[in-house]
Amino acid sequence: MKILVKVPATTANLGPGFDALGLALNLWNETEFIATDDKQIILSIDGEGAGKLPTDANNPIVDAALQVYDMAQKSCNGLRIHCINRVPIGSGLGSSSAAMLTGMLGANALLGDPFSQEEILKLAIETEGHPDNVAPAMLGGLVASIVHEERVISLKLPARANHGQIHLTVVWPEFDFPTKQARAILPKQVERKDAIYNISRAVLVTEALRTGDLELLGKAMTDALHQPFRIPLIPGAQIAMEAARKAGAAAVALSGAGPSLIAFSSKVDKGIGEAMSRAFEKAGLTSKIFELQVSHEGAEVSIL
Ligand code: HSE
Repeated sequence: MKILVKVPATTANLGPGFDALGLALNLWNETEFIATDDKQIILSIDGEGAGKLPTDANNPIVDAALQVYDMAQKSCNGLRIHCINRVPIGSGLGSSSAAMLTGMLGANALLGDPFSQEEILKLAIETEGHPDNVAPAMLGGLVASIVHEERVISLKLPARANHGQIHLTVVWPEFDFPTKQARAILPKQVERKDAIYNISRAVLVTEALRTGDLELLGKAMTDALHQPFRIPLIPGAQIAMEAARKAGAAAVALSGAGPSLIAFSSKVDKGIGEAMSRAFEKAGLTSKIFELQVSHEGAEVSIL
């Protein structure tokens, strides 16, 4: 039996929705799984991360798959896994969440679906530590999450952006800024005025995405809890954000923990990505531009 798992890239935070909001994007990793009996786990990679990511048990897809075998109290007798990776690694587009969900969903399907989608999502969120990439990767579209009595509740919200009326330009500078480091530099305590700044804006970001009001999005998609600490550490990022706005973007934010930036506009406008890319270049960084849409669909599992 061959299983195909498709998982989309995601952009987390959306400015003020730190660790709570995320959006699925139309950039997909596709991974094939075959169960074998030869006691070997063999993984191959085409695309992003090929030649760089581990292909043994240290690979995050393998690790996640084995977690599901353990949870199901089944032993794994061998696996062949082939990855076609399109989500860039360490970019702020949810590559680690995509890998984790891929491994968990692939193993679950090979075992005959012992766990529900909700149980797999819960396991992935617990392992990742925050829900804002994993939940939209699983559910698709715009997703808000809360932790309620130690349980995560993730809800897909209506978003016009789901139907292609909002265009997204992601610019990924070649700069190493691991999420672990990007989280460690944040202050542990926040001031009340900053909490209010973010709570009020996060609500209006969801409303602006629901109605497609880009002017409102531009006013609401700012942040006081993480971007002010992260952006100065990414060379050229502040200037690239300003350049995106000048080039016509309605709103721009750090994508997840960075280092990518994501700009929102009403139509495809190559000038936005190019302006951001030039700002990074002036700071000595090469960058890659992605022209994307929101993906209404989340992770998909099929039997081939
Ligand atoms: N909400 C997380 C952060 C996203 O900003 O640290 C990381 O992918």
